[in-house]
Amino acid sequence: MKSQENFILAIESSCDDTSAAVLRNDKVLSNVVATQAIHQQYGGVVPELASRAHQQNIVPVVHQALAKANIDKNQLSAIAFTRGPGLMGSLLVGTSFAKSLALGLDIPLIEVHHMQAHILAHFINDEKQSQPSFPFLAMTLSGGHTQIVQVNNYFDLQILGQTLDDAVGEAFDKSAKLLGLPYPGGPLIDKYAQEGNAQAFIFPKPKVEGLNFSFSGLKTSILYFVQKSVKKNPKFIEENLKDICASIQFTILEILMQKLKLAVNQTGIKEIAIGGGVAANSGIRFRLKEAEKTLGWHTYIPKFEYCTDNAAMIGIVGYLKFLEDDFAEQNITAKARYSL
Ligand code: KG4
Ligand code: ZN
Repeated sequence: MKSQENFILAIESSCDDTSAAVLRNDKVLSNVVATQAIHQQYGGVVPELASRAHQQNIVPVVHQALAKANIDKNQLSAIAFTRGPGLMGSLLVGTSFAKSLALGLDIPLIEVHHMQAHILAHFINDEKQSQPSFPFLAMTLSGGHTQIVQVNNYFDLQILGQTLDDAVGEAFDKSAKLLGLPYPGGPLIDKYAQEGNAQAFIFPKPKVEGLNFSFSGLKTSILYFVQKSVKKNPKFIEENLKDICASIQFTILEILMQKLKLAVNQTGIKEIAIGGGVAANSGIRFRLKEAEKTLGWHTYIPKFEYCTDNAAMIGIVGYLKFLEDDFAEQNITAKARYSL
């Protein structure tokens, strides 16, 4: 039953963050995220450990989200959860929990596509963020995904291009690892790049037709470059860290901006919305601001907490589907590979 005040509990557990949020219609009342530190020592996400940590975190995280929102579970109108894509063992925790709670409370269950959620995070009603108008181009940049999507309305999304191998966040993290930086290295590359010379070293850009991306070649060329340079000078990395980081970041941003420009030329759409953890990068933010001035684009980046994996973005899709009576059945299952 829809009313003026609908409370949606949302659950996200697709990768290594356990998150729960409560929304009142399109406004976020709480958005709790438990980040799993365990993966740091392995230099990447270990699926089995992620699943176990979700099992430990899910109940306290949901309790906290309800408490922060000052909502009793009996006031909830529906429960939204991430069905996929993601790690199967991780998705199963959120999916099973959401199904059980919805059954127990006898309220509707809403399945949410993780990538659609990254895109529709722009529609969370928050005075600190403005909303793109349809149609717009969404570029989702994270540790798991790199996509350019044409968004005609909330539910009509068309993938124009995506990565053929590594995601852009992986390109940052794997490059950082080659430089001996801890995981996840993306933010560190960003930090050092700000004080380095982006033209100091030249890395080749991949030749990929159309709007698809590829980052694995860049990783290999950085590996050979580092190995060769360290052989000549064992202190090469520490002596040149800032310039190496600036050059790597420059190359990655060039790849992203070239594809965005191509997408704008092909579609004629100048409304550009960025999301995902890499949207925090100071270089991409600067480039987009520049493009507003020089190319007449309108660009949008959600608040950082809605860029990285979070349940609030699952909640906004949940709310929009709730308005459409778009509910899932109790026999629904998680879907690790799930196309938009
Ligand atoms: O969206 P996200 O939190 O999780 C995934 O769904 O993957 O994105 C995490 C990714 C990591 O690869 C991390 O290194 C990258 O976002 N990242 C950054 C920055 N902040 C986070 N990459 C470059 N510059 C940053 N400032
Ligand atoms: Zn994500």
